[in-house]
Amino acid sequence: MTEFPRPTADAARAPLIATRDLVRRYAIGAATVEALRGASLTIARGEFVAVTGPSGSGKSTLMNILGCLDRPTSGSYQFEGTEIADVDADARAEIRNRRIGFVFQNFNLLARTTAIENVELPLFYGPSPLHAQHARAAQALERVGLAHRAHHVPSQLSGGEQQRVAVARALVNGPDLLLADEPTGNLDSRTSAEIIAMFRELNRTSTLTIVLVTHDPEVAAAADRSVTFRDGRIVGDSAAAATGSRRSAP
Ligand SMILES: Nc1ncnc2c1ncn2[C@@H]1O[C@H](COP(=O)(O)OP(=O)(O)O)[C@@H](O)[C@H]1O
Ligand SMILES: [Mg+2]
Repeated sequence: MTEFPRPTADAARAPLIATRDLVRRYAIGAATVEALRGASLTIARGEFVAVTGPSGSGKSTLMNILGCLDRPTSGSYQFEGTEIADVDADARAEIRNRRIGFVFQNFNLLARTTAIENVELPLFYGPSPLHAQHARAAQALERVGLAHRAHHVPSQLSGGEQQRVAVARALVNGPDLLLADEPTGNLDSRTSAEIIAMFRELNRTSTLTIVLVTHDPEVAAAADRSVTFRDGRIVGDSAAAATGSRRSAP
């Protein structure tokens, strides 16, 4: 059912994500803002990583680059060993659309469109016939526990249900990487915990690699690894601490 090429042996050995000295500057009139000031980060297939840090520290800028929605001013980003700066727009779009799913704080669902139609949207330009698209969307809704709400429009769904629809839409193409930027930012704490439990389960059962931005320490604690940003730089990484790099200090 999947139409995607299997990773080559080299690609399978490469980390899913490897960034080196990422810099992203924005020009605002005569001024420039340096949103990223040299971020280097390696994430292996199957990891569940939380990205934390104050507002304005560069978290969303990093996510947009990882998702091939934006390009760095300088530095390297390799996705499964492929240098993103070296591939053409079509190949970038292919990675963005097929290999990566996105979830945002505001769900970004089409308002007058049912849950299942929202989930089908990413399949629209793909090769599969309509009935197959429908079956895949139904399957994705089932994975997020929302099969029974397939024909409801967003206004008939709770915030948590709307976010589940958004997760189903992100998963419908069978991505390797799920990027979630403050996915629980608009949810109460109980609903937030349910959504995070679902992420945990998806990570465990389908070896989906997850990178999740959050302000909430409880949400961050649910991840296996926590990376902290400040002023466009990575100032903390629990993986580095766990492998003993701090023990080598005097
Ligand atoms: N499109 C943009 N144009 C200009 N400045 C931007 C843009 N996007 C982000 N910034 C600036 O870059 C910095 C980092 O922003 P962002 O990555 O959104 O931070 P975070 O997600 O951690 O809150 C901030 O100072 C922000 O104002
Ligand atoms: Mg942000």
